Amino acid sequence: MPAQKIVIDCDPGIDDALALVLAHGSPELEILGITTVGGNVDLARTTDNALRLREFLGFGGVPVTPGSAGALLRSRVNAAEVHGDSGLGGALLPPATLPVAAGHAVDFIVETLRAAPGEVTLVAIGPLTNVALAVLKEPRVTEWARGLTILGGSYTRGNFSPAAEFNIAADPEAAAIVFGAGWTVTMIGLDVSRGAMTTRAVADRMEAMGRLGTELLIPCVGFHGTITADGGPAIHDACAIAHLIDPSLITLEPAVVDVETAGRFTSGMTVTDFALRGRTPNALVGTTLDTDRFWDLLLDVYARVAESVER
Ligand code: RIB
Ligand code: CA
Repeated sequence: MPAQKIVIDCDPGIDDALALVLAHGSPELEILGITTVGGNVDLARTTDNALRLREFLGFGGVPVTPGSAGALLRSRVNAAEVHGDSGLGGALLPPATLPVAAGHAVDFIVETLRAAPGEVTLVAIGPLTNVALAVLKEPRVTEWARGLTILGGSYTRGNFSPAAEFNIAADPEAAAIVFGAGWTVTMIGLDVSRGAMTTRAVADRMEAMGRLGTELLIPCVGFHGTITADGGPAIHDACAIAHLIDPSLITLEPAVVDVETAGRFTSGMTVTDFALRGRTPNALVGTTLDTDRFWDLLLDVYARVAESVER
């Protein structure tokens, strides 16, 4: 079975970093490119973090192309209180020596999808500004993409606000464009990803993974000191990557998702209707996560990556 080609649009970000480790270490996936967006921290930092992660993990041949610094219309927000000012928690990776790619993320996304219609899956684990701009620039990307999987949204409660998840709330207009573009969005939301908590048992296994554990994984997941036997920081973004590796991990249900852009208290809410009411679904929404198998997958892949990082 050939590896699934993917482009990851991200805002590293603690959980973005753990998602990149998973994607890089999985033989089921081939990363064609990383594109960055402002989100958890500003674009300069998310891009620098992506460049540092690329070299630390050893996928220097994969282009990293920066994109949008902020939202289409809204003023910028960030999640530095979660990810730290650097964006990678307590991880201090060596400075990147390899250069960022020329050009803009939106053009990279459009041209990569154009060059291989039906072959490349776009994975968005940050605000959807780059994806929306790609759709606006070249609507055919919705036909060329093999699929679009996002970490974002929630059909229950938010994390940025009671109603909205961060990636959507950071750029609701972009999300509305993406969900209204005619493709079927695979939405892995907080309803699923909140289950991906780094417990003490998980952290203990990460700690034993050499430099990958001590220099990246633990400084990331241990940043707030909230790891306990029963709970810890949820590594949301890794759920989107895990879904692509093993689609049996997350149950998906068809729904119509509308993004609230006008609500005073609900801006960025993904209003999710599983009842459809005669409408064509625009999304497949994650509803359950097999947590045990999720962690089995991640820790197996991380152990393999750890060996390559030691070399
Ligand atoms: O709500 C979780 C999402 O917001 C993740 O992508 C995290 O990195 C932040 O961007
Ligand atoms: Ca993210």
